Amino acid sequence: MKIVLKRCTLRPWTMDDVKSLARHANNPKIASNLRDVFPHPYLENDAIQYIELCGQKDGSLKWAIEVNNEAAGSVALLPMTDIYRKNFELGYWLGEEHWGKGIITEVVAAVCQYAFEQTNIHRLYARVFSENTASAKILLHNGFVQCGHMHQSVFKMGVFHDELIFEKIKKG
Ligand SMILES: CC(C)(COP(=O)(O)OP(=O)(O)OC[C@H]1O[C@@H](n2cnc3c(N)ncnc32)[C@H](O)[C@@H]1OP(=O)(O)O)[C@@H](O)C(=O)NCCC(=O)NCCS
Repeated sequence: MKIVLKRCTLRPWTMDDVKSLARHANNPKIASNLRDVFPHPYLENDAIQYIELCGQKDGSLKWAIEVNNEAAGSVALLPMTDIYRKNFELGYWLGEEHWGKGIITEVVAAVCQYAFEQTNIHRLYARVFSENTASAKILLHNGFVQCGHMHQSVFKMGVFHDELIFEKIKKG
């Protein structure tokens, strides 16, 4: 499931990515917008654990975002269960040196297309801390609509945050 795009390539993670993953991920500006399962500091051992996890067949789709011949970020579609089994949760991050070039806007377009054309999923959604304007813009640019506003649902680094939920439903 390699997807070649204009600004980057999406491809599976390999153990050769440990150093670049740890280098790009070890950034508090990234960790502060994600769940605590994404650690800070982010060490090579964390990268090894993540790449091992990517090898498990759990129904998720996890791609490395390759820029300039190295893994510089991550995008994942995580399946829900039971009555929510037609939903994928979308998540992503990108190394700071590549921010603001339209990379994740392009990546989200590609994984949405992949999910709706290549899997039996019906709904995609993403959870965004309310301060994260860049992430909200990416979703809106890709046809997501805001469907929820959770007040102070997030407790991150000792501070409560509101969380916005965005969804995109398969057409037809
Ligand atoms: C959010 C993130 C994924 C954006 O990736 P990116 O490749 O730089 O995003 P893009 O360049 O595709 O587009 C970002 C959009 O937000 C805008 N933007 C970027 N930084 C911004 C900021 N600080 N405030 C407001 N808007 C901002 C850009 O102008 C662009 O909008 P436009 O197309 O209308 O001009 C990246 O900053 C990141 O990894 N952040 C930390 C982790 C994270 O927040 N993950 C998402 C959790 S929901």
